[in-house]
Amino acid sequence: MSWSLRLARPADAAAMPDIAADSPRTAEGYARLIRKGHSLVSHVGDALAGVLVAEPFRRELHIWELSVLPAFRKRGIGRGLVRAALIDARNTGVKALTLTTDREDGAPFFAQLGFEEVTALDAHIRLAGELAVEVDNGLDADRRCAMICFLD
Ligand SMILES: CC(C)(COP(=O)(O)OP(=O)(O)OC[C@H]1O[C@@H](n2cnc3c(N)ncnc32)[C@H](O)[C@@H]1OP(=O)(O)O)[C@@H](O)C(=O)NCCC(=O)NCCS
Repeated sequence: MSWSLRLARPADAAAMPDIAADSPRTAEGYARLIRKGHSLVSHVGDALAGVLVAEPFRRELHIWELSVLPAFRKRGIGRGLVRAALIDARNTGVKALTLTTDREDGAPFFAQLGFEEVTALDAHIRLAGELAVEVDNGLDADRRCAMICFLD
């Protein structure tokens, strides 16, 4: 079955908590980020299948969440969402996309798409802060990493 992809609209927020089941974000939280204009959704038929939630920070675009419902995985939707975010970022003058992820479960996926690990975290205060918040919230520091994809 084919899937479609577009910019998220505030009305999409209500269904987003069902996609990323382990996210603490509420529908209102998603709506606030959607209004910033860079989040994306993918549909299979009428069903919301995947989301990419992003927020600009100066000339970087940070991906807060990328999630595809298990039933719709391995069809290229996750990769399609990231590639669309890269195109949107280039078109809006963004210098780089950033994110934090799990070294084993997420980093290999993003590496395939051109992201590299940020090892010099003292030179990237915002990402260092994000990792610190995640550890405060109970995530394993050894498993988390920050990644960046520079745009030409
Ligand atoms: C990661 C995720 C978004 C991928 O979505 P998807 O729609 O299944 O991804 P795609 O179908 O576009 O996969 C693209 C490629 O990445 C690979 N891939 C998918 N998940 C991967 C992972 N966790 N690690 C390594 N490779 C992965 C696929 O096998 C595929 O490679 P192939 O074309 O050579 O077979 C999805 O598995 C998901 O929602 N996971 C839970 C949340 C999560 O981990 N988010 C990302 C970290 S924040």
